[in-house]
Amino acid sequence: MHLHSLLALTFSIARFVLVIADETTVINAASNWGTWEGWGVSLAWWAKAFGNRDDLADIFFSLGETSLNSQSLPGLGLNIARYNAGACSSNSISGETMVVSPDMILSRQMQGYWLDWDSTDPSTASWDWAVDSNQRNMLLLAKDRGANIFELFSNSPMWWMCYNHNPSGSNGGTSDNLQSWNYDQHAIYLAAIAKYASQNWGFSFTSIEAFNEPSSAWWNGETGTQEGCHFNVATQAAVIPYLRSELNSRGLTSAIISASDENTYDIAVTTFNSLGSTALGDVGRINVHGYQYGGGRRDTLYSLASGAGKKLWNSEYGESDATGGQLISNLLLDFVWLHPTAWVYWQALDSGGWGLVDGDNDSLTVGAASQKYFVLAQFTRHIRPGMRILGGGSNYTVAAYDASTEKLVIVAVNLGSAQYLNFDLSEFSQSGVNGALVQRWSTQIGSGNQYVAYNDTYISGTKFWSYFGSNIVQTFEVNNVVL
Ligand SMILES: *[C@@H]1O[C@H](CO)[C@@H](O)[C@H](O)[C@H]1NC(C)=O
Ligand SMILES: *[C@@H]1O[C@H](CO)[C@@H](O)[C@H](O)[C@H]1NC(C)=O
Ligand SMILES: *[C@@H]1O[C@H](CO)[C@@H](O)[C@H](O)[C@H]1NC(C)=O
Repeated sequence: MHLHSLLALTFSIARFVLVIADETTVINAASNWGTWEGWGVSLAWWAKAFGNRDDLADIFFSLGETSLNSQSLPGLGLNIARYNAGACSSNSISGETMVVSPDMILSRQMQGYWLDWDSTDPSTASWDWAVDSNQRNMLLLAKDRGANIFELFSNSPMWWMCYNHNPSGSNGGTSDNLQSWNYDQHAIYLAAIAKYASQNWGFSFTSIEAFNEPSSAWWNGETGTQEGCHFNVATQAAVIPYLRSELNSRGLTSAIISASDENTYDIAVTTFNSLGSTALGDVGRINVHGYQYGGGRRDTLYSLASGAGKKLWNSEYGESDATGGQLISNLLLDFVWLHPTAWVYWQALDSGGWGLVDGDNDSLTVGAASQKYFVLAQFTRHIRPGMRILGGGSNYTVAAYDASTEKLVIVAVNLGSAQYLNFDLSEFSQSGVNGALVQRWSTQIGSGNQYVAYNDTYISGTKFWSYFGSNIVQTFEVNNVVL
């Protein structure tokens, strides 16, 4: 035997060994990690800049195909929009005006509705309901395309409620900025917006969030580039009951309070444990941000929230990795350990890799969708509201089940070497139909395939399998599956 034939034989044995070493995931049919509420995005800055762009609304909030700069994009179908109640206004009140951080980015100044402390009555001249029309318009465009869950959130109280009159935070950033005599005013502000929306704008806020990363110490009015405000946990615990009471007195008893949008899972655990039973009793949902990425005790936060009967959302996630690699590993960690019932990206349109679509909120230019956009589409277009989230059976698999159509969705990623991945559906009472087609979609993390559809995968008995190149995410839809 020639040496190169020997090498070839060795190589084919190695390939064979590789194939039989492939991993099998048993989807856990008996599991239930909650009913999926949806996928979302925060509006705020990008919607202030681009709120009149119907094509962007189509791309983010519909499931249709939209052409953007001659690129055809499959819509993400996001159904949750977080609307940011602004904290800025340019009027003077008894000679007092807003203080602005020298580093403030002007496109991050969100205009607020409550102009002065003269009147709490929203029909008076103390309120201007015409400001911030772009952000509102994007919310309505989202609603027209099927978005059905809206959250009102605040980055800072109105500037005039703050000790230093600066909506970027206290001087230094480590102390509270909401004046102690304005705790109720902050609650009135948010409740009045929620009420006005239900009466005049044609939608109702599902939830109201009075804080944004409140325990963090970086909301510094002297250097801030955006709106922000530190709240000690005791202050959060004081404001929350005011908010509950102001919502109730306006008849908004079914609007829930979410809290506290802390920056990390671990801070959220600390806040949860320190809020106290009164405030916690008024909280309908725990919102947490995903900025701890690969770290933090997601499992602890889930135990606390589920133990107290609260829903749990990852209400804000973002990073600058346009490849989608960071997003998918953190999203999988969320599914496996945090078990949120919704997942919300921060700014859909942004520069420096942060956006799902690249864009510039100053020059109002829009670039291309990033690879991260297509990675996220593998999830958002298939795991839909109302589905039951199942245990995927491994740290690289997410599964969701739609009882009304008897459809099983599986999303899996292969971060290692190329291999076949097997999916075992034997725990289901009916695991699809032997020989039936399993539709497949594929996106290469980094660059390459962008949500490409294939019809080449079939059920064999109670299993199916698919070849995964390295760094590939794939989605499968299996029909005729019964729990
Ligand atoms: C627009 O957004 C980008 C990305 O966040 C940021 O770098 C830039 O400063 C923003 N411009 C303004 C004026 O907000
Ligand atoms: C799953 O866990 C293994 C072993 O810890 C690790 O090598 C792999 O990267 C993880 N996969 C994902 C998708 O996180
Ligand atoms: C795969 O088959 C389905 C169902 O027959 C069909 O709707 C879809 O267009 C096909 N996709 C591809 C990529 O051929």
